[in-house]
Amino acid sequence: MRSLSLAVGVSLLQLACAFPAPPWPNTTAVGDAKAGPADLNDLAKKAGKMYFGTAVDNPQLDDKQYTDIAFNKAVFGQVTPANGQKYMYTERSRGTYSFVEGDAVVDKATAAGQLLRCHALLWYQQLPNWLTTGNFDNATLITIVQEHITAEVQHYKGKCYAWDVVNEALNEDGTMRKNVFLDTIGPSYIPIAFAAAAAADPDVKLYYNDYNIENPGAKSTGAANIVKDLQARKIKVDGVGMQAHFIAGSSPSYDSQLQNMKNFIALGVEVAYTELDVRITLPNSAEKTQQQATDYANAVKACVVTEKCVGITVWDFWDPASWVPSTFKGTGDATLFSAGFEAKPAVASIAQVLQGTT
Ligand code: G3I
Repeated sequence: MRSLSLAVGVSLLQLACAFPAPPWPNTTAVGDAKAGPADLNDLAKKAGKMYFGTAVDNPQLDDKQYTDIAFNKAVFGQVTPANGQKYMYTERSRGTYSFVEGDAVVDKATAAGQLLRCHALLWYQQLPNWLTTGNFDNATLITIVQEHITAEVQHYKGKCYAWDVVNEALNEDGTMRKNVFLDTIGPSYIPIAFAAAAAADPDVKLYYNDYNIENPGAKSTGAANIVKDLQARKIKVDGVGMQAHFIAGSSPSYDSQLQNMKNFIALGVEVAYTELDVRITLPNSAEKTQQQATDYANAVKACVVTEKCVGITVWDFWDPASWVPSTFKGTGDATLFSAGFEAKPAVASIAQVLQGTT
């Protein structure tokens, strides 16, 4: 069934190229395996990557049409829980842990044989009120952070390929972003977090994850400095996650993405695209949708040709589940599939890149 899906998908791709407008005519729901657009993970693995993956959030778990795609290993070989593993859901009151929401996604992905990127141990957003309003002193907050990370990493031990240990710690100019951890503990909250994660699970890959670090610049240099600082302290750090929340037509160039990855890899770490989406300023048009397809393809191609770029994760694959419209008013259509589960031209462009045909 899967190879049939792929074969049909590829011939649709060829058709799409032959008739550019619209590039993917008469798309059918991808829940129908016979009309599946492309098995992106299978193609990514053939291209030498570890996975092509997606974020999945809890509200979509009851939607069969959604879950049939999300937990289809041929399409997505890796899943990242979009929210359920974050601090506010996992330690709602101090010392009381609940992993129910993260587990709901993790269990389905594990049953489907998919890898997991686990997300995120320390982030300045989605923190519980008790933590942000507690006025804890330095020593107490260090203990709180260490206990949280230890409990969560131990709970998911053996299930996660990687953890985003620290998320979005940087300002755009590469300096440290103000947050409760920086204010109370100082910059050493980052090595403290990585050391706690490494102690709780020595086998899981530990990542620093951020946005706007997909091309060279002050913020990418800041991320590199975080890696260097951890290495100087002999604390385990394995990767840099480049979120890649792009804007159609304003995404970093292919060449700058390549150079940027080279800079990180030169430090001895791996890299991954961890939250790829390409938002469009509405109203949409055929031209903008084509630009989006190009931008998605450039990011995927940059990862494909970079040996130590292990994989690509899209930040959900279905427009109604996307975080974009509520955050960036007037923009949307950022994911690979429309509300009607129709594959956009970006699916075809990604598949072509993964097949080495562009
Ligand atoms: O949990 C409540 C639920 O109880 C309530 O009924 C519902 C009503 O709107 O809201 C729920 O919380 C929402 C939460 O997602 C869970 O769905 C929040 O309002 C909403 O703001 C939150 O948005 C998430 C956002 O992080 C928070 O900043 C997005 O889904 C999630 O995709 C997004 O993910 C982040 C990455 O973690 C880090 N990088 C950027 C990326 C996009 O912002």
